[in-house]
Amino acid sequence: MKASVIRSFGGTEVFGFTDVETPQPRSNEVLVKVLACGINHYDIFCRRGEANPRLHLPHVMGADVVGEIVQIGNEVTDRRVGQRVIVAPGFPIDFKEHGVEPINLTRTYSVLGGAIWGGYAQYLTAPAIYTYTALPNLPDNELATLPLVVTTAVHAVKTLAQVSREQKILIQAGASGSGAMCLQVARLLGANVAVTVGSDEKNDYVRELGAELVINYRRENVFEMLRDWTHGAGVDAVIDNVGGSVFADNIRSLKRDGHFVNFGMVGGRTAELVFPLIFYKQVHFHGSMMGTTVELLWGLEQVRLGRLRPLLDRTFPLREAARAHEYIEQRRVRGKVVLLPWAD
Ligand SMILES: NC(=O)c1ccc[n+]([C@@H]2O[C@H](COP(=O)([O-])OP(=O)(O)OC[C@H]3O[C@@H](n4cnc5c(N)ncnc54)[C@H](OP(=O)(O)O)[C@@H]3O)[C@@H](O)[C@H]2O)c1
Repeated sequence: MKASVIRSFGGTEVFGFTDVETPQPRSNEVLVKVLACGINHYDIFCRRGEANPRLHLPHVMGADVVGEIVQIGNEVTDRRVGQRVIVAPGFPIDFKEHGVEPINLTRTYSVLGGAIWGGYAQYLTAPAIYTYTALPNLPDNELATLPLVVTTAVHAVKTLAQVSREQKILIQAGASGSGAMCLQVARLLGANVAVTVGSDEKNDYVRELGAELVINYRRENVFEMLRDWTHGAGVDAVIDNVGGSVFADNIRSLKRDGHFVNFGMVGGRTAELVFPLIFYKQVHFHGSMMGTTVELLWGLEQVRLGRLRPLLDRTFPLREAARAHEYIEQRRVRGKVVLLPWAD
């Protein structure tokens, strides 16, 4: 099969579109013909060697897989050849933990394409129990935008921040793949949402998704704008995928008893913690990593009901994975970018 493989860590030059052996399913697995695979920023950290420096190379990334089952392992009874499925964007690697929930708290939980080979290929194997019937009415490229960010957004916004009607919340990087889905989930739950963007060209995009306040952090003061928007009270929750560069503003902008949820670090891995700010405000701190199976399925059900929608920015043929990564690294993405393994 063809795959976009990384042979070393580094810039986009480390990609090679090449022939590799097609994997064979073990007894509890299925072989999936990959029809579309979404890209996440995690893949960029992975390619650079920042996600897991001990990753065995060569490696095939890719967490958001939509495909068709073409072969089933001899112990699999409840999946069939020809079934169109999505693959869970993360699951425990050790089969002894298969079926354990919350899945994202299992010891060997791993993002698909993080430790084991993922969907930047024409085929992949996956444990059958972590494949789910694909929503019939959505094309492959749109479906492949969903699994990872839906899981993440439902876990961060609904479960951890407990966002509810009439609340005012801040979502960092509102046009990013994960931020835009968090924005949709927050609106679905009835919250009023402020988002940050790094360029005015993203304004219409986030407004159309329901953002009430859009802050261009390059030329506007995030803290002051949130203070005015909340009439001095501060926001009920901050959903943060940026990390270090915005941490101070995030904490300053929260109201007392507010929720701070972090799941990302595009703006830096570390920040200074000022303890009095934390305890006077009685901030609830949450580290958020992906989500549970129930959260993924709840999110997909909202998509089926038309309450959340896939946010496809553009597709690239798999052979152009390097160009697709560059597009994301140039911060041009709005929503999600998807790779098509069978396109020229
Ligand atoms: N833990 C989890 O479960 C989980 C799940 C999903 C994502 N994540 C993490 O969340 C973060 C975002 O992921 P994503 O896939 O949503 O990203 P993405 O779609 O590539 O979007 C990232 C956006 O972040 C903004 N940004 C702000 N400061 C930045 C900086 N210093 N460098 C680069 N971009 C910056 C940029 O938009 P502007 O130019 O408009 O600011 C950029 O387009 C990553 O750290 C990712 O690993 C974690």
